[in-house]
Amino acid sequence: MKILVLGSGAREHAIILALRAEQTEHEIFVSPGNAGIAADATTVSVDMLDGGAVTAFANEHAIDLVVVGPEAPLVAGVADALRERGIPVFGPGKAAAQLEGSKAFAKRIMDSAGVPTGRAVRAATVAEVEAAFDDLGAPHVVKADGLAAGKGVIVTSDRAEALAHAEQYLPAGPVLVEEFLSGPEVSLFFLSDGDTVRALSPAQDFKRALDGDAGPNTGGMGAYSPLPWLAEQFGSEHDFVAQVTRDVALPVVRQLDAEGTPFIGLLYAGLILTPAGVRVIEFNARFGDPETQVVLPRLRTPLSELLFAAASGTLEDQPEPEFSNEVAITVVLASEGYPEAPQTGRPIEHLADAAAVEGVRIVHAATAGPDAPGGDLIATGGRVLNVVATASDFATARERAYDAIARISLEGAHYRSDIAARGGG
Ligand code: AMP
Ligand code: GLY
Repeated sequence: MKILVLGSGAREHAIILALRAEQTEHEIFVSPGNAGIAADATTVSVDMLDGGAVTAFANEHAIDLVVVGPEAPLVAGVADALRERGIPVFGPGKAAAQLEGSKAFAKRIMDSAGVPTGRAVRAATVAEVEAAFDDLGAPHVVKADGLAAGKGVIVTSDRAEALAHAEQYLPAGPVLVEEFLSGPEVSLFFLSDGDTVRALSPAQDFKRALDGDAGPNTGGMGAYSPLPWLAEQFGSEHDFVAQVTRDVALPVVRQLDAEGTPFIGLLYAGLILTPAGVRVIEFNARFGDPETQVVLPRLRTPLSELLFAAASGTLEDQPEPEFSNEVAITVVLASEGYPEAPQTGRPIEHLADAAAVEGVRIVHAATAGPDAPGGDLIATGGRVLNVVATASDFATARERAYDAIARISLEGAHYRSDIAARGGG
């Protein structure tokens, strides 16, 4: 297949590595990509937010499938432009992407579809925010409406801090104040063709910047898959996945279809397993980052077939995706100052040493260069690299990942040391 991938992060690199790992060879183009991705696909320069430009490129190069990585092109309507021209695209149109783009829209869809989620109040003024705090109690959860790359959310017992967060976002529009939900978090991905869904294997993301879930929320500092502890609560991973498919994914996909805005792409359910049952905390309209980096290495079914079936309305003909019994963990290497004020432009050294560790892949999130042959790669963003390790058990996967990440030099860089520390149970 000729495949065009849009995006530039570790998620897109992981998608491309999974496509490359298939027995069938594909011709893969990516825009804009990064220095690591460039080794695994042909990088091109197409404005990924411009539906006309992406469509023209796809036509010119006879692309069979476009895979949209990040949310911004989806919210900008790039998938609509491609679909109008009959080009198979994995990614929802602008209307269905509001599931991620607008927390208020997501709440409305969940209410209409009867999907279990926390109570939430839309507050447009400081007085309304305060009233919602009184009503819902502490800890306080405040969310900016709209895309904020995981940084628009605060969860705190400090009322003044929660209020200050709300005040920061209020000038741009109402915020959501949510009921605090307590319990372990699970990210579960569903492929959807607008009608049929197919679940992938669950993963857990570590959202806070520092060990022990301290520090600010980030885009994600690490992840692991599968989640063996799910079996204790639900009998098996399969039973858990079946329950969330029935109670969350299918009702949402049917609701969006009934509204004339079918969801074609990746439905990401962010879940909290509360003592009262599974609750949705958020939806995303694309693969999660960094969860994709641990889910896809375990996928045994050819990814291109699944994505193409979703894009072309034939998911029903596909068997359930199969996963290996191996475990996968990823640890994110972040620039100094991430997430508040990342320092970029610094050289990265000793990547080859890190990649030499058994079972380890280095997935690039924000890298560029080198400017000259033999020169260093440069860190260009907050989350720079993902070290992904697979093994037959968590202890070995952790050893491998941490051995590899310790070999990489990037001045001021930081990473969490407790990813999947309790992964095995
Ligand atoms: P979101 O962007 O909605 O995924 O929120 C980011 C993170 O904030 C989540 O992964 C949770 O760790 C936390 N969070 C969001 N909503 C809630 C909630 N209602 N109760 C507890 N924690 C939450
Ligand atoms: N890992 C969280 C996200 O992709 O939004």
